[in-house]
Amino acid sequence: ISTPFTFIATGNSIIYTGATPVFADIDLKTYTIDPDSIEALITDKTKAILPVQLYGQSADMDKINEIADKHGLKVIEDAAQAHGAMYKGKNVGALGDAGCFSFYPTKNMTTSEGGIITTDDEELAKRARIFRAHGSSIKYTHDEIGYNFRMTDISAAIGLAQLNVIDGFNDKRIANAEYLNEGLKDVDGVVTPYSADDFKHVYHQYTILVEKGKRDDWVDFLTQKGIGTGVHYPIPLYNQPIYKKLGIEGSAPDAELAANHVISLPVHPSLTQEDLDLVIDAVKQASDSFN
Ligand SMILES: Cc1ncc(COP(=O)(O)O)c(C=O)c1O
Repeated sequence: ISTPFTFIATGNSIIYTGATPVFADIDLKTYTIDPDSIEALITDKTKAILPVQLYGQSADMDKINEIADKHGLKVIEDAAQAHGAMYKGKNVGALGDAGCFSFYPTKNMTTSEGGIITTDDEELAKRARIFRAHGSSIKYTHDEIGYNFRMTDISAAIGLAQLNVIDGFNDKRIANAEYLNEGLKDVDGVVTPYSADDFKHVYHQYTILVEKGKRDDWVDFLTQKGIGTGVHYPIPLYNQPIYKKLGIEGSAPDAELAANHVISLPVHPSLTQEDLDLVIDAVKQASDSFN
């Protein structure tokens, strides 16, 4: 059971195992999976809950773990966008049975390509190492059908260097987000990101929800003003052509609402105050021009 409001890799990771993703809805305040929509979907086939720590913010993990414990399910965090994010004093990636991080170049930290799995379960770690190395734990003896998921030493070296700077990058993203929040707080028709006090949001994306005009018109307007935008994500996974072809279904009204109304604005650590002021000014102008 996962969220349909995510990058397709989340759903695909379920399909790779031979399982079928079942989609819950999202909490419109945080855009992460809504724990209250999970339990009704659980059947005797359900194996795991896969929350996505979307945009750099944790889902409500206490509630999710409680449901998982009650039904004997595993919890796997997709923390691809949330390096350094925290939930009630604990790091994401350490909140379930396993966590997955992406080091793709646009992420809060990178190794050029690649990722890691985090877990405190020795057995799981052992199996992951075996899968990574063509299914072998002893050289040239293969007990499983594995893969080549090795990280190169060059990528690992980049990752080690990035570990020295990730906290500073995240601090800058958070400061940029706070500046944008302040500048946009009274703009008509714009809902700024929500972050609870006991969560540390690391703003992989700074995503607003626009309540007037058409989202795509906002995107065009901001593009003309020279502001880079992104839409994360325009199509709930169950409406992706390949998922429809595979007969994977879903219905998540709040995910659909978000898919039609969100826009991500620049928040990356290299932005200057002048850049941020330009973004705020352009969003204000967009708001004035749409009803
Ligand atoms: C939420 C989410 N899950 C999974 C992935 C997949 O990560 P990767 O591209 O490193 O395989 C990404 C990003 O690419 C992502 O944003």
